[in-house]
Amino acid sequence: MANSTLEAIFTRRSSRSYTGQKVDDETVADLAKAALAAPSGANGQPVNVIVVQNTTLILELEKAVIDYFVKAGNEAIVSRNKQRNNKIFYDASTVLFLAVKNKSNIDVGIAAENIAIAATSLGLGNIILGLPGVVFNAPETAAYWKAKLGFPEGYEYGISVAIGYAADTGKPHDVDLSKISYIK
Ligand SMILES: Cc1cc2nc3c(=O)[nH]c(=O)nc-3n(C[C@H](O)[C@H](O)[C@H](O)COP(=O)(O)O)c2cc1C
Repeated sequence: MANSTLEAIFTRRSSRSYTGQKVDDETVADLAKAALAAPSGANGQPVNVIVVQNTTLILELEKAVIDYFVKAGNEAIVSRNKQRNNKIFYDASTVLFLAVKNKSNIDVGIAAENIAIAATSLGLGNIILGLPGVVFNAPETAAYWKAKLGFPEGYEYGISVAIGYAADTGKPHDVDLSKISYIK
């Protein structure tokens, strides 16, 4: 493919297994910066990036998310989590949490995709993760987890992106070209 950005977009896929190899600090900083470089409505820049590389913390959060769905009796997600060995972060060495203000969900999605595309183009596996949001939103656990990750006042969980060296292989999903129409 002639264009490296298009190549990253077309080859990106979610990785659900990672080697233990750490991503170097400069690369992680570039990926965090890529999120902040994203466009935002009225240039509101509503996203803060919190980079977590503390495995103990990631595993504590993972357990809290798993337990949340068990307590909520959400059989469908409990069953899917079990199929995935109760992994929420899939042993990725680094997770970038995007905290967002003013309910700017579109902006946070665009920032997350910047990370995913940049990571792909750097040869890193990655996955965008919505599920961890449940413990940042549940009234009984929100304050604890927001404080633990240092969310600024007024910020909510937007999304997170796990990155690392992928241990799985797979193909990008097929796109349905019938969903494109042209009016000329
Ligand atoms: C907003 C959003 C939230 C997601 N949350 C999760 C998640 O919590 N856990 C997970 O395993 N995958 C999650 N995914 C990954 C999707 O399952 C994945 O993108 C989809 O199956 C398409 O596969 P692909 O990314 O390999 O193209 C999420 C993706 C998006 C865009």
